[in-house]
Amino acid sequence: MIKENEVEKYLDFYSNKFGREVLEKELEFVESKLKDCKNVLSIGCGPAFLEARLHQLHPEIDITGLDNSKEMIVQASKAIHLEYGDVQHLEFDDNIFDAVLYVTSLEFIEDYKKAIEETWRVLKSKGRILILMLNPNSDFFKDEYSDRNSYIGKNMRHRNIMEIKKVISRYFFIENEEYFLGIKERKIVDSDNPKLASLYVLEGIKYDE
Ligand SMILES: C[S@@+](CC[C@H](N)C(=O)[O-])C[C@H]1O[C@@H](n2cnc3c(N)ncnc32)[C@H](O)[C@@H]1O
Repeated sequence: MIKENEVEKYLDFYSNKFGREVLEKELEFVESKLKDCKNVLSIGCGPAFLEARLHQLHPEIDITGLDNSKEMIVQASKAIHLEYGDVQHLEFDDNIFDAVLYVTSLEFIEDYKKAIEETWRVLKSKGRILILMLNPNSDFFKDEYSDRNSYIGKNMRHRNIMEIKKVISRYFFIENEEYFLGIKERKIVDSDNPKLASLYVLEGIKYDE
């Protein structure tokens, strides 16, 4: 579980121009994928900045953010529903969400396989999973991860994206995979080149039993 000063460090990222630009790019992307959903669960929402902006753009979408860090939940935007909890043991009923979103969070979860299983359970039939993961092959990631004091360096648990994809494909039909959000010398560039793209995205549709 993350400590308070680490949360402050994490929030610092969004307080500068670069962090805000990253947020807006992620938002644009997530909005294009989820704008037609009625209810969305965001796992590991952290400060929920993206979710709050999505709510501003689409107040008709019912958004719930869940995080297992009390410190993050305290900081999180109250514009959406917030739940303090662990994705490995969700307290939601089966088959209730249209979509489950992970924005740079799946790779930080201890037992991500259990998280995927729980995601499958709470999604409705043909429900959608949208995962934005840090791309370990990108220069941006390598820089951040090499700093063992950075939030990523300290808290990221899984780096094998192909292994993660294999687990997801047991529960979801993978509709799309792509590299997104190029970053070069801390500037956003339009690129899906895996060396520059800071994010790897997977979109899946729930397989019914
Ligand atoms: C890198 S942060 C991402 C936060 C946010 N989605 C964003 O894009 O800024 C990862 C988040 O996952 C949360 N997390 C890690 N393990 C979790 C778990 N088992 N259940 C719920 N949230 C978890 C952390 O507390 C943290 O807020």
